[in-house]
Amino acid sequence: MVNGEVSIVAMAPQALARAQQLALGLALPLLGCSADVSGMVLEVYPDRLALRNCAQPGTHALVIDPQRRRRPAPGRDLITRSLGRGCRSIIDATAGFGADAFDFARRGKKVIAIERVGVIAAMLEDAAQRFRFRCASAQFVVVVGDACEQIALQPPADVIFLDPMFPQTQRHTALARKSQQLLRVLAGDDRDAQQLVNIAREKALRRVVVKRPRHATPLAANPDSCFRGRSIRYDVYLAGVS
Ligand SMILES: C[S@@+](CC[C@H](N)C(=O)[O-])C[C@H]1O[C@@H](n2cnc3c(N)ncnc32)[C@H](O)[C@@H]1O
Repeated sequence: MVNGEVSIVAMAPQALARAQQLALGLALPLLGCSADVSGMVLEVYPDRLALRNCAQPGTHALVIDPQRRRRPAPGRDLITRSLGRGCRSIIDATAGFGADAFDFARRGKKVIAIERVGVIAAMLEDAAQRFRFRCASAQFVVVVGDACEQIALQPPADVIFLDPMFPQTQRHTALARKSQQLLRVLAGDDRDAQQLVNIAREKALRRVVVKRPRHATPLAANPDSCFRGRSIRYDVYLAGVS
C-alpha cells in the first residue's frame, strides 16, 4: 500500500479545519495550496473530497458521484440475478470507491461498505455523507478496516459481495478507468482475497457473490452459479452449501 505517499491540501480557507482533521486521522502530510505538490493528493474542498494523481498531469481529479447510475442493457442486469431474490442487506467487503456499493443502495438495499485503505475510505465516507443527504432513507454505513476482521463484527447480511483487485495485465493497465488506476496505486494487489472468500462464506446468510474477470480462475472452487458478462463474471456461493 502507498497510503503514506498521499498528501492533503485544503483547497479553500473554509476547508482547512477538515483538511487538518483528515491529515491527523490518516497520518498524512498537510501541504499549503501553493506548495509544489507531487504524487497523490487528496484535495479538500468545503463540500467534497477529490483525489488527484499529479504523476499524470492533465488528468482530472476523481470525485465520487454516488448518484451516478450504470444502466445495464435489458436482460443483462447480472448483478440483480447474482444477488438473488429476497436480498435486503449486503456487506460490500471490498468497497473501494463504492461504485458497486452505491449501486446496491440505490436499489434499496441496506449496505455496509468495508474498506481498509484510509484515503479510499475517506473518499467513500465523504460520498456516503452526500448520498445520505440526498436520499434520507438510504441505509449506507462505511466501516474502515480489514474485512477479514470486520465482517465478524458486523450485523449479519443476506449477501456478502467481494470485488478484490483484478490481476494486472498490460491490457488492463492501458484500458483501466481513472478510478481503477487510482485504486491500484493506493491499494496494490489484494493477496488475501481467497481467505476473504472463506470468511465471507462462514458469515453470509444467503450467499457470497464474487466479481472476477470473465476468464479468471474462481477464488473458491465450484461456485453454485456464474453470471457472465462481456468482461466480468459473478461467481455465486450459496450459504449452507460447501
Ligand atoms: C477492485 S476494488 C473494489 C472496487 C469497488 N467494487 C467499486 O465498485 O468501486 C478493491 C478494493 O477492496 C479493498 N480491499 C481488498 N481486500 C480488502 C479487505 N480484506 N478488507 C477491506 N478492504 C479490502 C481494496 O483496498 C480496494 O479498495
